[in-house]
Amino acid sequence: MTSSCALNGRAAVVTGATRGIGRAVAEALTAAGALVCVTARDAAEVRRTAAELGGIGLAGDVAGPGHPEALTELALRAFGRLDIVVNNAATNRPYGPLMDTDPDAWREAFAVNVEAPLRLVRCAWRGWMREHGGAVVNVCTEGATHPGPNVGAYGTTKAALLHLTGQLAGELAPRVRVNSVSPGLVRTEMARFVWEPGEAEVAAGLPLGRIGEPQDVARAVVWLVSDAAEWVTGADLLVDGGTRVRAASTAVPYAVHQRLRGGPGV
Ligand SMILES: NC(=O)c1ccc[n+]([C@@H]2O[C@H](COP(=O)([O-])OP(=O)(O)OC[C@H]3O[C@@H](n4cnc5c(N)ncnc54)[C@H](OP(=O)(O)O)[C@@H]3O)[C@@H](O)[C@H]2O)c1
Repeated sequence: MTSSCALNGRAAVVTGATRGIGRAVAEALTAAGALVCVTARDAAEVRRTAAELGGIGLAGDVAGPGHPEALTELALRAFGRLDIVVNNAATNRPYGPLMDTDPDAWREAFAVNVEAPLRLVRCAWRGWMREHGGAVVNVCTEGATHPGPNVGAYGTTKAALLHLTGQLAGELAPRVRVNSVSPGLVRTEMARFVWEPGEAEVAAGLPLGRIGEPQDVARAVVWLVSDAAEWVTGADLLVDGGTRVRAASTAVPYAVHQRLRGGPGV
């Protein structure tokens, strides 16, 4: 790629990169010329993904002890640099009313969705970015700014991640840019229980007439980490097919909330 979105020779770490949005991000970064290091918990999937992308990988839980340190060290050892961090791995559990939420599951959600991104950015900062610069993208959600049925824990962690994004953007400027993307409903495993039971109905309630594909989000991430966005930091880029503006666009009820009321099952 020779455009201002080219990432030739830059090195990236992408969490949760074996499927869904993270996989699409890792693919898009690779296509833009970046060297990519992927992580997720399933070791076989990490090996397969790394091999398919011509990159490297490390299996583990992003919230696990020593994981961000090991991931950063691996990327620095293999690539000699670490220019890009994409914090994509997340959990949408615990699911249900907050009054019934198990405190350990609540803490685990914060460990994975908020603390892990901070720990990884800290490692990347100390190991490379403080001296050489870089770009971080945190994957939040369109729902981070408003309540939704049964997703109180998830939404609260993502609201915290959104705040963390702005805080880090200010603290790490001018060397490191920190932004987020906030996807609407995207065709992935995590959201299958929302889109699969009646995709046409969900799509009809969206101004742009379809649910998202992982590549929709990946293109936004590539732009944010590229030099094309060199004057953008602390921003949240909505990639939601118009979900936030649907009230002015369509009279069709928002089927996503009906699905969330039904829940993902166990
Ligand atoms: N899909 C949507 O509609 C939607 C909407 C808004 C925001 N998002 C956000 O987009 C991001 C990606 O979601 P997705 O829909 O692509 O999910 P997904 O298809 O379920 O993929 C999740 C990826 O993260 C990995 N992962 C999960 N927990 C992990 C952990 N604790 N440590 C390391 N890796 C972990 C998974 O692999 P392993 O299971 O092997 O670990 C997998 O590679 C998340 O931040 C999510 O909140 C999604």
